[in-house]
Amino acid sequence: MDGGASAFKAMLALAMLTVTLVRGAQWTMTDEIGPSDFFNDFDWYTATDPSNGLVTYQSQSDAKTNNITYVEGDSFFMRVDTTEVQLAGRKSARITSKNSYSDGVYVLNVTHIPTGCAVWPAFWTVTDQYNAGKWPAGGEIDIMENANDQYPSNLATLHTESNCTIPSTISTQTGTVLSTSCLSPGSNGNQGCQTEMNGTSNANWGSSFNQKKTGGLFAMERAMGSEGSGISVWYFPKGSEPSDLAAGSQSVNPSNWGKAGANFNIANECNSDFGPHNIVLNIDLCGDWAANTYNVSGCNAKYPACSYQVGYNGSSFSEAYWQVSGLRIFATGGGNANNANSPGKTTTTATSGVARTVSHSKHHRTSTAKHN
Ligand SMILES: *[C@@H]1O[C@H](CO)[C@@H](O)[C@H](O)[C@H]1NC(C)=O
Ligand SMILES: *[C@@H]1O[C@H](CO)[C@@H](O)[C@H](O)[C@H]1NC(C)=O
Ligand SMILES: *[C@@H]1O[C@H](CO)[C@@H](O)[C@H](O)[C@H]1NC(C)=O
Ligand SMILES: *[C@@H]1O[C@H](CO)[C@@H](O)[C@H](O)[C@H]1NC(C)=O
Ligand SMILES: *[C@@H]1O[C@H](CO)[C@@H](O)[C@H](O)[C@H]1NC(C)=O
Ligand SMILES: *[C@@H]1O[C@H](CO)[C@@H](O)[C@H](O)[C@H]1NC(C)=O
Repeated sequence: MDGGASAFKAMLALAMLTVTLVRGAQWTMTDEIGPSDFFNDFDWYTATDPSNGLVTYQSQSDAKTNNITYVEGDSFFMRVDTTEVQLAGRKSARITSKNSYSDGVYVLNVTHIPTGCAVWPAFWTVTDQYNAGKWPAGGEIDIMENANDQYPSNLATLHTESNCTIPSTISTQTGTVLSTSCLSPGSNGNQGCQTEMNGTSNANWGSSFNQKKTGGLFAMERAMGSEGSGISVWYFPKGSEPSDLAAGSQSVNPSNWGKAGANFNIANECNSDFGPHNIVLNIDLCGDWAANTYNVSGCNAKYPACSYQVGYNGSSFSEAYWQVSGLRIFATGGGNANNANSPGKTTTTATSGVARTVSHSKHHRTSTAKHN
């Protein structure tokens, strides 16, 4: 028996295990989008809302004229029109990154989240084949979302074309699983697999977030393939962010950030569900989600109906605005957690002209079935 050789093998195994445990995905910054860069780096979507909301999405020039999107101080603002009566759909905006991205880390610095009854805002990434009618092929990742502020905390959600599922309890996240099936549509309609990020005392939604006025960072890591940790979302209030997320940092390593609010550990089994994505920021009103959950959210105690509020109560939308000071994307690096299917940055050919060809029947993002 060769004790030396087996001891050596044991040491080697231990060394490899150690390497496995300490290896984290290090990502390098590729894009830094400051307040006024949104006007160059994003397209203003002008088609009819695919989610059947009572909004008229404005072109960039109309949104500027109507004070829907603008830069003030160090912030980019996106709001809905607060003119009291707007019966033909309230003016709003939905902007889509011109570039598409895959694995990497996406960091939004947010000071104000749109809140209120009828309001359905989202910061999300979605297949860059969306305008070609391919959704859910290529997938969708909702980083920040809620409707009528029904949930006290932020919701993180995935939508997939195949039967991708998450466990009903996840020890590697602080949040709570609300729905386990990412398949869209699936047994939960278009709810997708969903975590409410309510596991910490840091408010990450609603007036308790907005009243602080200091905001914070929402960071999403997408690291697919056999070595990736899946799709995770963290929220860090201003001043409590990890040092590698401080302004000016050129690279990040999320494995040092502690437990995520949401961790969808589906890196390997759902790998092929996620293609290149565009980044989207929008504010919808009513529509497939907020209209159908209006009553259960308690909004019918304030207004007769979602459509009535949108049509007649413009001043009720004074808190329906995004205030963001920037978006950073760390899309290269990642080592083995950067899946070969995820080449980093590519440029899409999507235009607002293409967007007009969207079929409205296919892109209902959230079901009425689950939320009624
Ligand atoms: C746009 O609206 C904001 C918030 O109400 C206001 O501070 C700003 O002055 C407005 N800008 C224009 C050009 O009307
Ligand atoms: C999806 O997978 C889950 C878990 O494996 C299974 O229970 C369910 O029946 C599948 N659903 C469909 C529509 O294939
Ligand atoms: C989070 O939300 C879930 C579902 O509503 C609830 O069961 C749980 O108690 C909440 N956790 C905390 C820490 O608030
Ligand atoms: C986020 O934006 C706020 C408000 O502009 C700013 O004070 C803060 O330094 C920013 N944080 C980072 C990490 O850039
Ligand atoms: C919602 O509430 C309103 C007013 O209370 C009521 O008229 C309406 O029927 C309710 N809608 C649903 C779908 O329950
Ligand atoms: C909504 O608008 C209607 C019509 O102007 C008005 O009667 C009602 O008081 C408004 N409701 C709220 C809560 O502001």
